Amino acid sequence: MNIVLLGAPGAGKGTQADLLSAYLQVPHVATGDLFREALRNNTCLGQQAKEYMDRGELVPDSITVAMVRERLAQPDCARGVILDGFPRTIEQAEALDALLSELDRQLDLVVFIRVRPEVLVERLSGRWICHDCQGVYHTLFNPPEVPGVCDACDGELFQRVDDRPETQRYRIEVYLRQTAPLVEWYRERGLLVEVDGEREIDRIQEDLREAVARVRAAG
Ligand code: AP5
Repeated sequence: MNIVLLGAPGAGKGTQADLLSAYLQVPHVATGDLFREALRNNTCLGQQAKEYMDRGELVPDSITVAMVRERLAQPDCARGVILDGFPRTIEQAEALDALLSELDRQLDLVVFIRVRPEVLVERLSGRWICHDCQGVYHTLFNPPEVPGVCDACDGELFQRVDDRPETQRYRIEVYLRQTAPLVEWYRERGLLVEVDGEREIDRIQEDLREAVARVRAAG
C-alpha cells in the first residue's frame, strides 16, 4: 500500500508513521528525515536544504521531488511506502501521482491528522529526537525511560533547530498557506480519511489501521 500522512508540524505524522510502518512492514519515508540525513552526511543536497529548513520554509519542489523519486525507486519500497511530510504542495502531489504511475503504482490512502495550532506548539516545544534511530519522544506525553537517552537504541536525544519558538510559528504558517489546501485536494479525489490527532497515540494508530483495513477490503 502507498499511504500519505498529512498534517501540520507536530501533528504526530512521524510518531504514527513509525508505528504503521512496523505494523505493515513497509518503509516510513519522511522527507524531513531524508534532508536531515543528507545534512549529517554533509552532501550538497543537505547543504541546499539546510538554509530553507533553518528558516522553516519549504525546500524547493524540484529538489524535494528528485530526492523522493530516488527513494521510491529503491527495492524496499516495492511493496509500498508510508510517506510523511510529502507531498506538501499541490505541485508535489501532482509529482507524486506521476512518480507512482512511472512505477506502475498508485496512491491508496491519505490520512489527515487534525490537531489545533495551540496543541502543535506544546508538542513541538517538548519534542526530543534520537540522533541515531530518529525515534521521537516528548517530555510530557511520551517521555523516554531515562531522560536524554533513546529507549530503543540508547542513542542521545536532541531538540531540532527548527523547533525554536519563532521558527515553529513560521512553520505552522507555511503549513496553513502551502500544505493545508491538500486536504480538500485529496478529499475531492476520494482518498482522504480524517482522524482526530488530539487523543492518545495508540488510539490514533487504531484509526489508521482501521482505515488501512477498509481500503484493503474495498480493493
Ligand atoms: P519535517 O521533518 O517533515 O517536519 P514537520 O512536517 O514540520 O513535522 P514534524 O516532524 O515537526 O512533526 P510530526 O507531525 O512528524 O510530529 P511528531 O510525530 O514528531 O520537515 C522539516 C522541514 O524539512 C520543513 O520545514 C521543510 O523545510 C523541509 N521539508 C520536509 N519535507 C518537505 C517537503 N515535502 N517539501 C519541502 N520541504 C520539506 O510529534 C511531535 C511531538 O508530539 C513529539 O514530541 C511526539 O512525541 C508528540 N506526540 C505525537 N503524537 C502525540 C499525541 N497523540 N499526543 C501527545 N503527544 C504526541
